[in-house]
Amino acid sequence: MNPVSMNVVPRHVAIIMDGNGRWATQRGQPRLYGHEAGVRATRAVVRACRDAGVSVLTLYAFSSENWFRPAAEVGFLLELFVRTMGVELDTLHAEGVRVRFIGDRARLPQTLTAVMEASERRTADNPGMVLVIALGYGGRQDLVQGVRALGRRIEAATLRAEEITEADLGATLALGDLPDPDLLIRTGGEYRISNFLLWHLAYAELYFCDTLWPDFGPAELSSALAWYGGRERRFGRTEPPSSGAMMEPADDQ
Ligand code: FPP
Repeated sequence: MNPVSMNVVPRHVAIIMDGNGRWATQRGQPRLYGHEAGVRATRAVVRACRDAGVSVLTLYAFSSENWFRPAAEVGFLLELFVRTMGVELDTLHAEGVRVRFIGDRARLPQTLTAVMEASERRTADNPGMVLVIALGYGGRQDLVQGVRALGRRIEAATLRAEEITEADLGATLALGDLPDPDLLIRTGGEYRISNFLLWHLAYAELYFCDTLWPDFGPAELSSALAWYGGRERRFGRTEPPSSGAMMEPADDQ
């Protein structure tokens, strides 16, 4: 297998779904109208990823910073997530998708956390694509809780600071049991990662496009996957690693 063909389908795709508000404003509609349209785009992209053979899809639905939006928009989004999971869960389950959520649930309303837990429980044994939805997620917060977890082990004298490895910290983080994203897609024309999966994106290929999220569909996803397929991933080395070592970064950057 050559390095390019090894890349053809990313195992893990992460998406920052940006541009719902602008999409609505361009149509003279309130921002909430854009979020409704964003749900329709999400549905199609989840299906297209599954059909393409992606193993893990992680969607940034609500960041820890999104709490600072106007209360009415926050309330609408949280209610939209409850409603959307209610509508979509049967189909996702029937398609064998395993649903998981990452992020701080403490501030989320009980109506939402109940739906999240029920979705995770119901789909836990499904064999298909893992769909991770980041809700109330922040990459720095994720790292802080991971460092705290290691700190507790040091306090309990079950770990020595000098012994901590990258694998130890990685295992304490959200997604610690899943492969890191191979491809990050961000729609909406911004060129930043906005506190998403800071640790996990270390070696991801970054794909930015101007398309606003409600307009991002299976055709745009195909373009992103084709672009990814043409990338040569070196993981800090001068040559791509052999297939067995594909996920192991080099010591140098
Ligand atoms: C960004 O648009 C999008 C969000 C804040 C997340 C909301 C995502 C959805 C409603 C999609 C549905 C997802 C799930 C998992 C049900 P923006 O408001 O930042 O747009 P702007 O940059 O144009 O203001």
